[in-house]
Amino acid sequence: MIEYIRKYEFGEPYETGAVIEETVKTEGIPEGFRYDEEAGTFFYDLHEKDMIFGLGETVRGINKRGWIYVSNNSDDPAHDENKTSLYASQNFMIVDDGERCFGLFVDNPGTVTFDIGYSTPGVMSIHPEYNDTSFYLVDGQTPLEIVGRFRRLIGASYIPPKWAFGYGQSRWGYKTADDIREVARRYKELDIPIDMIYMDIDYMQDFKDFTVNPERFPDFEDFVKEMREEGIHLVPIIDAGVKIEDGYDVYEEGKANGYFCKKENGEDLVAAVWPGKVHFPDFLNDDARRWFGKKYKVLTDAGIEGFWNDMNEPAIFYTEDHLKEVFEQVRDFEKKELDIWGFFDFKDVVGSIANNPEDYRRFYHDFNGRKVRHDRVHNLYGFYMTRSASESFEKIAPGKEILMFSRASYTGMHRYGGVWTGDNTSRWSHLLMNIQMMPALGMNGFLFSGADIGGFGGNTTEDLMMRWIEFGIFTPLFRNHSALGTRDQELYRFDKTEDFRNLIKLRYALIPYIYSEFIKAVETYDMYMKPLWFEYRNDDRCREVEDQLLVGDSIMIAPVYEQNKTGRYVYLPEKMKLVRFRSCEDCDTEILDKGDHYVSAALNEVLVFIRPGKELSLDVNGGERRDGSFVHTNDSGTAITVI
Ligand code: NOJ
Repeated sequence: MIEYIRKYEFGEPYETGAVIEETVKTEGIPEGFRYDEEAGTFFYDLHEKDMIFGLGETVRGINKRGWIYVSNNSDDPAHDENKTSLYASQNFMIVDDGERCFGLFVDNPGTVTFDIGYSTPGVMSIHPEYNDTSFYLVDGQTPLEIVGRFRRLIGASYIPPKWAFGYGQSRWGYKTADDIREVARRYKELDIPIDMIYMDIDYMQDFKDFTVNPERFPDFEDFVKEMREEGIHLVPIIDAGVKIEDGYDVYEEGKANGYFCKKENGEDLVAAVWPGKVHFPDFLNDDARRWFGKKYKVLTDAGIEGFWNDMNEPAIFYTEDHLKEVFEQVRDFEKKELDIWGFFDFKDVVGSIANNPEDYRRFYHDFNGRKVRHDRVHNLYGFYMTRSASESFEKIAPGKEILMFSRASYTGMHRYGGVWTGDNTSRWSHLLMNIQMMPALGMNGFLFSGADIGGFGGNTTEDLMMRWIEFGIFTPLFRNHSALGTRDQELYRFDKTEDFRNLIKLRYALIPYIYSEFIKAVETYDMYMKPLWFEYRNDDRCREVEDQLLVGDSIMIAPVYEQNKTGRYVYLPEKMKLVRFRSCEDCDTEILDKGDHYVSAALNEVLVFIRPGKELSLDVNGGERRDGSFVHTNDSGTAITVI
């Protein structure tokens, strides 16, 4: 029983699986809040200096105050700072004015709107669309204490295998085994270390989960072995939708056993995604979840040790029923003489077919014996898909550690896998967004996380890729991924090969530090990446530092995230040692006093600030680190120790 967390219940809350510990049940309205029962909205009057931290994968800065965030897992690649929903819903936040702070977690798997001083400056409102909510208030003296308490409530974070801290290359568009061999060869030729090559949907036969196209990947098992001999793990994608096709085992078994999500009339919902028409497994149902999880065996038996789960909001290109309605509406439009407003109505009808909110109301789950309409538990779908895989691994691949991360998520999924932050774009602002999201993900337990480095959509540039890698070398999940049809962005596509090689080798040399700090953060329920304010509570300047992060105990980073910049302003809350890395062996150091500094950072330089009394260990043989001899940092001296 956790004493310092109070739980308030409204309506009939679902057992979402977010929380694993019992807490003190409290009657009434959460302390400090007002509740408008008719509107189903909670209000909180913000203190003048209140900052809001958390909410996981959301747009905008580290301090969330001033915008509206809607937890509603959405497949929306065009995300920018005007968006209110991304792929994940992680409803934990901390309210902190520096004098008093508290945490709050809204455990409600439907849509929840957090209006943080957007509609009414000075007022935060929280509105769950359906009021079946467990509302947790977490007491604590500091944000870090609150994070620690909350994380104990939700359980320890997923730890991937060590090799997953290496560098990974991905692209939507590698179609054959030879395409993948070519990626491995080019990296090897240029002596750029790499541990993973990701396989996007093209490896499958007609985009069917748990199949491998035999023409493009003849002798798949041998190919997996061949790549392992090259030191590379292949990491295939698995999508949520199961293709409707007679004779396809996953479809046949799912149908026969009633494992797919059903419409009101009891028929299986028919939606469309990459494979064409699909059914969605009912991951919220125990039997269906266990069944789907076992299916990964086809791939683990072939030697696969890592997966990424995609399209699991679930993304819906269209549903059969909605499409029929749209065709009817279009025929109606055709009969009428369209004025300009009619034209816009028409455009709305045909333009809102994909991921249409109505479609999420057309199907149901059998959730712990309760028939639940999907929209009420929407944000659990990706979580339970990942749980399905993760829970099966010890049975289908005993003794093996499996890499697993997902696109959609909800708090609680952090026990089963990591996340990547979905389809970003090759924009400088998305690099900044990646920097700002990382602490919020960690607060919610998602320590193994990262973004598509270089940007997924759009065309990257060499300098953007370089700067992004310079930040990415500190993110636990370190993957370069891009979309079909965009400019190629494997590191060997650029001219500055030596710089990229040095950066990737620097990542490998940093793995002893990154890994030990990551494990420490998991074991002590701490954050791996923190805003400065969380550590420097007596320094008001740190309240507003939004583009520097503490990484582990010893270092602060200040990435360059703007085009054509050869330096940047940095705020130092105390005297620190700046190390300007050009490679593991080539760096210069400088002691800088507390205060503001303009520091130069040439395109190939990474700025690392070592905190007083701390030490950063590098293992320059990091590339050969497979003996598992990761080194722990200690707190003596400020020197960089090169092992
Ligand atoms: C959407 C995912 O977010 C992206 O990473 C992937 O490349 C495409 N689906 C194709 O599978």
